[in-house]
Amino acid sequence: MAIKSLQEKFLHGLGDIYDAEHQFLEAQQEMLPEATSPTVISLLETHIAQTEEHITTLEEVFNLLDETAERVKCAGAAGIVTEGQKTLKEVSGTPQLVDLAISGSCGKVEHYEIANYRMLITGAEQMGQTEVVQLLTRNLKQEEQTAKLIEQSAPELFQQAMKAEGTGRTASA
Ligand SMILES: [Fe+2]
Ligand SMILES: [Fe+2]
Repeated sequence: MAIKSLQEKFLHGLGDIYDAEHQFLEAQQEMLPEATSPTVISLLETHIAQTEEHITTLEEVFNLLDETAERVKCAGAAGIVTEGQKTLKEVSGTPQLVDLAISGSCGKVEHYEIANYRMLITGAEQMGQTEVVQLLTRNLKQEEQTAKLIEQSAPELFQQAMKAEGTGRTASA
């Protein structure tokens, strides 16, 4: 699709993240049954519900702009999802390793979303689209919060993986 104006560029970006959110929703639903850590399960369950809201919020944005919500195939999201699936297939050690792999994939997803939303929000701000800014910021805040929770839970997941392998650091090490 040719992008010849700022408006078209903005709509393309919206369609892109709209598609990415759908892909990430499906990917999270696929990963959920593979997780065993209560922390990872709870994170995924919460964020699956939030991702459904993100899709609805984006539909509100399209509505505000008098546009039909249309998915634009997001190759970036597809790449991140494929990489996550590939890693999960390759992990054959302890369930703790699987949890770590899931958490790592989710962290990449969140930061990809954050980068997209920040740029879209800057564009909407510059174009004076206050309501669009508010809606997109709602999604951004949840992505930022999720990224933070993933990062905060990472040490615990590494410790559990080390414990399961018997490679944890001892006091004398
Ligand atoms: Fe999202
Ligand atoms: Fe997200």
